[in-house]
Amino acid sequence: MKYEKTTIRDAEVFGKRILLRCDFNVPLDKESGEITSDKRIVASIPTIKYLLERGGRVIVCSHLGKPKGEVKPELSLKIVANRLSELLGMPVAFAADVAGQESKRLSQALENGQIMLIENLRFDPDETKNDPDFARRLSELAELYVSDAFGTVHRAHASTVGVASYLPAYAGFLVEKELSVMGKALEAPRRPFVAILGGSKVSDKIGVISNLIDKADTILIGGGMSYTFMKAMGLEVGKSLMEADKITLAKELIEKAKAKGTELVLPMDYAIGSHFAPDCEKKIVSKEEIPADWMGLDIGGETIKLYQEKIKTAGTVIWNGPMGVFEFPAFADGTNAVAKALSESDAVTIVGGGDSAAAVEQMGYADKMTHISTGGGASLGLLEGRELAGIACLPDK
Ligand code: 3PG
Repeated sequence: MKYEKTTIRDAEVFGKRILLRCDFNVPLDKESGEITSDKRIVASIPTIKYLLERGGRVIVCSHLGKPKGEVKPELSLKIVANRLSELLGMPVAFAADVAGQESKRLSQALENGQIMLIENLRFDPDETKNDPDFARRLSELAELYVSDAFGTVHRAHASTVGVASYLPAYAGFLVEKELSVMGKALEAPRRPFVAILGGSKVSDKIGVISNLIDKADTILIGGGMSYTFMKAMGLEVGKSLMEADKITLAKELIEKAKAKGTELVLPMDYAIGSHFAPDCEKKIVSKEEIPADWMGLDIGGETIKLYQEKIKTAGTVIWNGPMGVFEFPAFADGTNAVAKALSESDAVTIVGGGDSAAAVEQMGYADKMTHISTGGGASLGLLEGRELAGIACLPDK
């Protein structure tokens, strides 16, 4: 997949109606319905401002949650329109339908430098089906299409792929940045290139580990998935998380790394707990000593030291997935230490979306990283070396 795409810098936007796909799939508080992190809205501001300042008429669209083709008032984008308006310091008109009469009327009434948002795309079942008629209806709202929804580019939906066959399509600045930082790290990294992979399941990360064995110099493994690797090496893991049907695969990945000369580093010790609870009894043991009725919940102190050393001497670090159950403060040391080591490193530091991004932000290190991806599934897709439908449909530079 090509990482360099035609961008809005190449477009003539003055006076044009522009359909801008953003990823405003923001977390909402379950009780109050308030937005708990506006990071994704903030990340879209440079593109929006660029288009507005150049006299574009911007029609923003996004999904929010998984309403499965039904109108769910608690997943209305109205709340996002309000936040966007606060961030931009200007009115954001809101159309309470998805490319229906109101969207059409408001989009026709837009003047140069004005912006509107239409209702949650997934209220219409045809969005996720990438239905051509729905894509055409969406495209008829505008004269240009801009894709800036990096978090959703792994989905082949009407608003991420379909519309690109009806309108001249361009990448926005967020998509451009995500692709250039991660693409460069994968294609021409400053070496040594260290990947830190954690999270609970090997099955979620097979593609990533396999692709990075080809590209990275060193892979540091942590989190729940490391116990499947321990088992593959013939060790007992007690009650730790483990995928019995992935042991053979873990063995194959160890062999692949050996054959490629990629250093695949596994934990030497673990912080273990008597049971799965924040206040359980805790011990640090070597990897050979996990008792049958205990469970590994974090990497241990020796492993932390080793991983810190590897990060210190790296030229590029990509991190995806926590080192342990960091939601339990007693088992957050590994994840916190990795976040801290990245914040102190001179390397190009890239944090994949999801839990590792949340850990970095919680610890206040966000501005110390080269890049924190706004995409979970999308950034995993890139790390797997997969072609992403919402990127492939944009014209190459
Ligand atoms: C995300 O949050 O990962 C993106 O917005 C995609 O959302 P989805 O998994 O519901 O398609």
